[in-house]
Amino acid sequence: MNGKQVLIPESEMQRQRDLESELRLRFESEGKRPLAFVDTYGCQQNEADSEHLRGMLSRMGYGEASGPEEADVIVINTCAIREHAEQRVFGNVGALVHSKRVKPDQIIALCGCMMQRGETAERIRRSFRHVDLVFGTHALWRFPELLYRVIGQRERVFEIPESDGSIAEGLPVLRSGGSKAWVSIMYGCNNFCSYCVVPYVRGRERSRELPCVLEEIRGLVDSGYKDITLLGQNVNSYGRDLGREDFSELLRLAGEIPGDFWLRFMTSHPKDASPRLFETMAGSPRVEKHLHLPFQSGSSRVLSAMNRGYTREHYLSLIEEAKRAMPDLVLTSDVIVGFPGETEAEFEETLDLVREVRYDALFTFLFSPRPGTPASRLPDPVPKEEKQRRFASLVDLQNEISAEKHAAYVGKRVRVLVDGLSRDERFDLTARTNGGRLVHLRGDESRLGTFAEAEITGSSTWSLFGTISEGG
Ligand code: SAH
Ligand code: SF4
Ligand code: F3S
Repeated sequence: MNGKQVLIPESEMQRQRDLESELRLRFESEGKRPLAFVDTYGCQQNEADSEHLRGMLSRMGYGEASGPEEADVIVINTCAIREHAEQRVFGNVGALVHSKRVKPDQIIALCGCMMQRGETAERIRRSFRHVDLVFGTHALWRFPELLYRVIGQRERVFEIPESDGSIAEGLPVLRSGGSKAWVSIMYGCNNFCSYCVVPYVRGRERSRELPCVLEEIRGLVDSGYKDITLLGQNVNSYGRDLGREDFSELLRLAGEIPGDFWLRFMTSHPKDASPRLFETMAGSPRVEKHLHLPFQSGSSRVLSAMNRGYTREHYLSLIEEAKRAMPDLVLTSDVIVGFPGETEAEFEETLDLVREVRYDALFTFLFSPRPGTPASRLPDPVPKEEKQRRFASLVDLQNEISAEKHAAYVGKRVRVLVDGLSRDERFDLTARTNGGRLVHLRGDESRLGTFAEAEITGSSTWSLFGTISEGG
C-alpha cells in the first residue's frame, strides 16, 4: 500500500490546547491547585499513553497526587489482554465508591483497551454509577475536551469512537521513567492472532512518519535520556502502511543519532522478522543486543490455530540466524499455555523448543478466552488443573535455564545503565545490562541515570548482583 500518514488536523489539536489553558486559568483564578492520579494497567503502549495523559493533565493545571484518596481526578488506563487484568480493573473501580463518598466532587475516568469495547463501557454505564468519564483508545487525544465537559456540565461522558486511521502528533508528555523513555513508532495491529483482543481495541496499523520518530529520539537524547524503547505491537511491519519505510532502516538511522544511549524495541513478530533486522542490530553499537521474539507455542499445529503465520521450524531458523549475527544476544519471549485443544504432545513441543533456544527469560501466560475472538469459540476440553500443571512445569524449566544463564555472568565486568534504587537492603541501586537483565548493585546514588562498569559477583533466577567498578 502506498499510503500517507493521516494526522489529526492541527486546528483540532489547537482546540484541545485551548481547553487545557482555559481549565488551568479557571483553577488559577479560583486559587485551586487540583491533583490527579493516573493508574496504568497493561503493556508499555499503555504506559506511554499514560505519560500523554499526565502531560495533558499537567497543562490543565493538575499536580500529581500520590494516591487515589487525595486526587480530584482519577484516571484508570485499562488493559483487556486477559480476563485477570479486567477483573483487577473492575475490583479497583468498585473500591473507588468509598473514595468518592469521602470526596464527592472527585472525578473518576476510565480509558484504555477495555473501554474501547462497547459491552464493557455499557457495563460501566449501568453498574458503576460513580464513574464520570469513559473514553476509548481512539479518543485519547481528546481527553482535555472530555474532562472539560465533565467539569463544566457535571454530566457523565461516554466517548468510544471507532478508529478513523489517524494519528495525533504533538501531544504533551510528562515522562516518569527516569532515564528511560518510550517512543511509539506505530499504533494498532493487523495480525488478528486468534486469541488476541488487541486488533479489536487498538485498530489497524498506523505508522508515524520516519522524520517525526527520528526527531523525537534526537530530542530525547539531547535532554539526557539514555534508554529509549521504540514501541509497536509488531515493529517489524513498521512503515508498511506508508509504503516506503521499513523497521531496519528506522533502527539504522536512529542508531546513527549522536549521543551516549541505548536503543531497544518491542515487540517483534516472528512472521516479519528478517535476517536484515539482525544484521542491523549487530551493526549498530547503540542498539541493545536483546531480542524479544514471542513464539507463543512450540507446535506448528497450534501456531496455525493461533493464526501466527509461521511454523516452529521457521521460528527456530530465525533464532539460529539471530544468534549467528549476535553471539552475545539476550533472548526473551512470550508463550501461551493451554490454548484450546493443545495436547500433551504439543505442550511437550513447547518445552522442547524452550530447551533448544535457552531463553534468558520467558513471559508465560495461561490462555484466557477473550470475548469476540475466534479462539474463544474453540472447544477447550483440557481441564484447568491439567493446564496449571503444564504451566508449572514450563515455569520450572525456564527458571532452571534463567538461573544457569545468569550464573554465567558471575566474575564478568559488564556495562550497565543505573536506573533506580534497589529494594533489596543488601544493595543500593538497580541497573540493567545491555540485554535488559536486572542487576542489584552496591554503589553511590550519584550514579543514578548514568552508565557504569559493574563487576558481577552473584546471581539468582531473576537477577544479577554486583558492585560498580572503581573508575567505571
Ligand atoms: N504484539 C505482541 C504481543 C502483545 S500481547 C506480539 O504479538 O508479540 C502480550 C502477550 O500476551 C502475547 O505475546 C501473548 O503471549 C499474551 N496474550 C495475548 N492474548 C492472550 C490471551 N487471550 N490469553 C493468554 N495470553 C495472551
Ligand atoms: Fe495480538 Fe498477535 Fe497483534 Fe500481538 S501480533 S498484538 S498477539 S494480534
Ligand atoms: Fe493490554 Fe491494550 Fe496493551 S489490551 S497489553 S494495554 S495494547
